Amino acid sequence: MSIAITHSPIPTESATETLARLTGWHSRMREQFPIITAHPDLAYLDSSATAQKPQAVLDAVGDYLVTSNANAGRGTYGWANATTDLVDAGRESVHEFLHDDRAHPSSVTFVDGASSGLRKVAQDWLIHNLDDGDEIIVPFADHQANALPWLEVQQMLAARGRTVTVHPLPYEESGSGDYDIDAFMRLLGPRTRFVAATHVHHVYGNDMNVHRIRNACGSDTVICLDAAQSVGHMDVDVSTLDVDFVVFSGHKAMALPGIGAVWARNARGAAFESAGWPGSPNTTGIVSLRAAFEWLNAAGLQKVHAWTSSLGAVLTDGLSRLDSYEVLGCQSSLTLDSQVQRRLGTVTFRHRDVSSNDLGFVLDSRGFMVRADGHCQARAGEDSASVRVSLHVYNTEDEVDRLLGVLTELDGAA
Ligand SMILES: Cc1ncc(COP(=O)(O)O)c(C=O)c1O
Repeated sequence: MSIAITHSPIPTESATETLARLTGWHSRMREQFPIITAHPDLAYLDSSATAQKPQAVLDAVGDYLVTSNANAGRGTYGWANATTDLVDAGRESVHEFLHDDRAHPSSVTFVDGASSGLRKVAQDWLIHNLDDGDEIIVPFADHQANALPWLEVQQMLAARGRTVTVHPLPYEESGSGDYDIDAFMRLLGPRTRFVAATHVHHVYGNDMNVHRIRNACGSDTVICLDAAQSVGHMDVDVSTLDVDFVVFSGHKAMALPGIGAVWARNARGAAFESAGWPGSPNTTGIVSLRAAFEWLNAAGLQKVHAWTSSLGAVLTDGLSRLDSYEVLGCQSSLTLDSQVQRRLGTVTFRHRDVSSNDLGFVLDSRGFMVRADGHCQARAGEDSASVRVSLHVYNTEDEVDRLLGVLTELDGAA
């Protein structure tokens, strides 16, 4: 197996230089989002929750519904065959989008989204591949969708008389939001069978550099990657990212809600086979996913990544100049020209004196759609609420400047 490399580049130009270089390209991308252009006074800053859809995705779904809508894998007439072909093409588009070089047998299983996909890996694979005394490592400060399914497996196996130890994947004590790889290595033992990790953190926005996890645990341990915040935001390349499962939601990658996928490498342990009768596939979802991937490939994922992480750097830089705000996560990525990996356009912060919920209401009243709560972190602290701004290719420097203007008004407000 190849040694994985990270895909989040260390910047070679300042964030403002990147934004200036990409400005013409960005205008052409933004104008393809009808919901965005129809509401110039509003700023949608919640793309980690769900991404807006370009016209090409809406058109693909509309065209399918008016030309060949039928069920897949069942009928033998023209529309049914065309729909079956579209489902196959959708599956192929997932392999291609993830750069699956087919060096190993692999599979794509369509699911409702990341939550149902992670649970599917737990119920259709993990539970059948753990013995009494085995150990697994799970990220409890990440999204609960990537913690609860593994605990459920532990409980179900306990009911069958099998004891599985679940270790929390350790994080840096500094609050950087990064995994503590030295502490992780101390947890590893001969019975470590499975590690669940996250590609990009949904609160701190950082690339968790999971190649370190593979390097630490060697080639035998199965790694399941929650890629809900990376697919559609950056290039996700399974030919270099040495993990066994990649799970994501389509709606966060500009496709319709209700579609997602489990990609499985099927090289370690038993092959992943979806259990049970799958039922009718979500054909419109699959059509939308393929169209979203085509759109993102044409836009250029490196540019999408560079644009959103540079906008995020402008925002963090502005916030770090205001006394009342604390930006969560890695502090060394806060400046415009820092030579460290940038966040992926997700910036989360708190006001010293104003509650995050109140801040969310104020921002909403001024036209900024942000997320203000505990962000579904599996095990968050008492004061877990914070304000999350998550950016995508349709967001502008002007929106970030206007947001910083409002936050500056509230600087020092009690
Ligand atoms: C990192 C991460 N994993 C999993 C999920 C769950 O995704 P979904 O709600 O689409 O199932 C989310 C949603 O925000 C997420 O951010």
